[in-house]
Amino acid sequence: MDRARALLADASRIVAFTGAGISAESGIPTFRGKDGLWNDVEVETFGTPWGIRALLDNDPGRLASHLLDRADVLLDAQPNAAHKAIADLEQAGRLAGVVTQNVDGLHRDAGSRNIFCLHGDLINWRCVDCRQLHQHSRPGLKQLVQSFTGATTANEILSQIPHCQVCGGLTRPGVVLFGEELPTDQVEGAVDLLARCDLLLVIGTSGVVEPAASFARTVVRRGAPMIELNMEPGDLTSSATVSLFGAAGNILPELIA
Ligand code: OAD
Repeated sequence: MDRARALLADASRIVAFTGAGISAESGIPTFRGKDGLWNDVEVETFGTPWGIRALLDNDPGRLASHLLDRADVLLDAQPNAAHKAIADLEQAGRLAGVVTQNVDGLHRDAGSRNIFCLHGDLINWRCVDCRQLHQHSRPGLKQLVQSFTGATTANEILSQIPHCQVCGGLTRPGVVLFGEELPTDQVEGAVDLLARCDLLLVIGTSGVVEPAASFARTVVRRGAPMIELNMEPGDLTSSATVSLFGAAGNILPELIA
């Protein structure tokens, strides 16, 4: 902790690189590890566009109940002490921004401003044809997903999904599934931010998903120090200057106090 505090004190352009672990204390299970989402559902089925398409066609009831479960977890969540500590650090002029793999919007809700979402954002839907942005509110989105309750046909799900106001195409959540490209504007913003950071704060990520993990490694290769905050060692641990293991909601406020 002393070493991490000293690194923090020397830095003037800190960037936070976050993953699912920062939202664990907000009640959102991580993807891997003991209670990870990918232990309960198959990533190939629920985490890829072709898997979801096949579910819609062949088992729409299972897709509807998965979406209802996810909406319950994601849309009611509130930022925790770790999200707030990151937002405070930015407000104090010490943190230049956040690069996150999370789609839950909790950094924004905590008051962070300069945020780049490598895997998209649940609230920001897009038209699948013309890519027009369609923003939802959390309650609006919850109501939309609740309309899938009891659905047994693909049409019962599809008929509830809004169409694009510009071209009439179908809209979908602006989240990145496996096999899809990362959003260019978010990647460009993240790359620019990370190129100028002088301390990387890695929080709550196993560092196994690419290309996201390589964004963190690039900073270290350039010579900037990295502080890692995770529950247990992961793929980025060997790149870290200092690793602190425990819950981010406890450690982070203590670190920046
Ligand atoms: P993972 O589930 O792979 O890793 C979560 C990390 O959080 C682990 O390293 C845990 O040690 C740590 N952790 C758990 N609870 C914590 C806590 N309270 N405080 C601090 N750390 C904690 O999640 P990600 O690395 O974010 O992508 O996963 C990366 C990507 O894989 C996700 O963005 C998602 C997923 O499949 C897509 O869906 C494209």
